[in-house]
Amino acid sequence: MRIDILTLFPEMFEGVLGASILGKAAEKGIVQYRVVNFRDYSESKHGTVDDMPYGGGGGMVLKPEPLFNAVEAVSEQAKPRVILMCPQGKPYRQQLAEELSQEQHLVLVCGHYEGYDERIREHLVTDEVSIGDYVLTGGELAAMVVVDSVVRLLPGALGNERSAVADSFSTGLLEHPHYTRPPEFRGWKVPDILLSGHHANIEHWRLKESLRRTMERRPELLDQIELTPEMKALLAELEEERKNSGRAKD
Ligand code: ADE
Repeated sequence: MRIDILTLFPEMFEGVLGASILGKAAEKGIVQYRVVNFRDYSESKHGTVDDMPYGGGGGMVLKPEPLFNAVEAVSEQAKPRVILMCPQGKPYRQQLAEELSQEQHLVLVCGHYEGYDERIREHLVTDEVSIGDYVLTGGELAAMVVVDSVVRLLPGALGNERSAVADSFSTGLLEHPHYTRPPEFRGWKVPDILLSGHHANIEHWRLKESLRRTMERRPELLDQIELTPEMKALLAELEEERKNSGRAKD
């Protein structure tokens, strides 16, 4: 996969793309990053990329020419997915990360100004993405979130292939709790079942704890997945436990 990032602050990406899984993925040749300063594609002598809004009002607006020129320069023959990072975009979720991980070429556009000229939205980008309902100073941090969540899904990027499969959200549920040694720490014990060596029981416990966590923290996720008979039975058990603990408190 090739990922091009168009930004006015290329230095922000140095650490993130060079370290850990993202850095290793590039070393292994799984992904190639290019960070492009779109000021280099400005058509003015002074490298102007923004201008005052027509109709007046405060703030500056990113001009169309530098971004169109930059996207066209990195696009080569095929048409890449061109993703504009902005708070008005589609909420970013694991499902979109999975979809983007199937592409050959992504172009992420990061703005740092009040707005983008509307012709960029209408005629240049294929997607607009928001990473959450808050306003960042620019799209760079959002682009890093997208790159991180996509690259870790590329085959071979994570050392352990299983870990991407079991993560929170890829199953539609939050992850179950994890424990490691020691078996007892400051009086807090690891659940006995995890030490039992009985794989089927452990898997059943993990599924139950995933459901418990999802029910407690993100109940709306349960409406978005197809429940197996085992999940339905576990949810009924959890509901029963909840009622009993309510009674115990009364
Ligand atoms: N740019 C500024 N805020 C943003 C957000 N929440 N998501 C994506 N890009 C942004």
